Amino acid sequence: MSEDPYARAAAAGAAVRDRLGEHRAVLVLGSGWAQVAELLGTVRGGLPMHDLPGFPAPVVQGHSGMAHSVDVDGTPVLVLAGRSHLYEEHPVATVVHGVRAAVLAGCEVVMLTNAAGSLVEANGPGTPVLISDQLNLTGANPMTGPEPPEGYPGRFSDLTDLYSPRLRAAAHAAFPALAEGVYAGMLGGSYETPAEIHMLRAMGADLVGMSTVLEAIAARHLGAEVFGASLVTNLAAGLSATALDHGEVLATGKASVGRLAELLRAVATAV
Ligand code: HPA
Repeated sequence: MSEDPYARAAAAGAAVRDRLGEHRAVLVLGSGWAQVAELLGTVRGGLPMHDLPGFPAPVVQGHSGMAHSVDVDGTPVLVLAGRSHLYEEHPVATVVHGVRAAVLAGCEVVMLTNAAGSLVEANGPGTPVLISDQLNLTGANPMTGPEPPEGYPGRFSDLTDLYSPRLRAAAHAAFPALAEGVYAGMLGGSYETPAEIHMLRAMGADLVGMSTVLEAIAARHLGAEVFGASLVTNLAAGLSATALDHGEVLATGKASVGRLAELLRAVATAV
């Protein structure tokens, strides 16, 4: 296997095209979103992601680790049910590998979903929230390391309008009351303290989670249009009387699955 993450992603992208065909968009399903795959449209095929070059075996409960090819009202969408996280001590290149592979396989749109804590009390558990912008507080960035190789854009990508205004407008057209917010991406491994949530609120965060921000940067770097949505599974630490629990995160996803599928269909058909 090549040491160059771009060559590795290109090899995975070629394998995706070979085995699952061509796709216009890729959808990454986070914790609690996995059940959405069957509700999106017609599943045309699938394979375990770790059959493709460069993908590690998945470990987080609630992530199926499958790549599905789904026809969403005529738009072919590559659905990646599961992702690698920095808190699992995967290198940043592994965390963004699926997104890079999909974009190099021809996906022009990258749809990222996650489970998140809400810093806004009005957006309680079960609420889908569009991501309008992000704070990358992971301490990592996919654009560090050697300069991207010949044939790829340089590293200093412009991240203004990282989350596509066009796709956000499509989501709002389908769901006018949909909330929007800034997502703070943390390294994770634990949930936050109330003091950290206080800090994040002062920094302008509305949502907090442990994924998405690095994938969004990698997708933009390769020229893809980015869409992001969080499913609120809990109020952030210190905002609610109950302790945070990963089981609850997964259960909230199950209860909201129909609404989430409708939202993603509305965006996929705008691709
Ligand atoms: N914090 C960080 N990540 C999360 C949370 C949270 O409160 N809920 C779901 N993922």
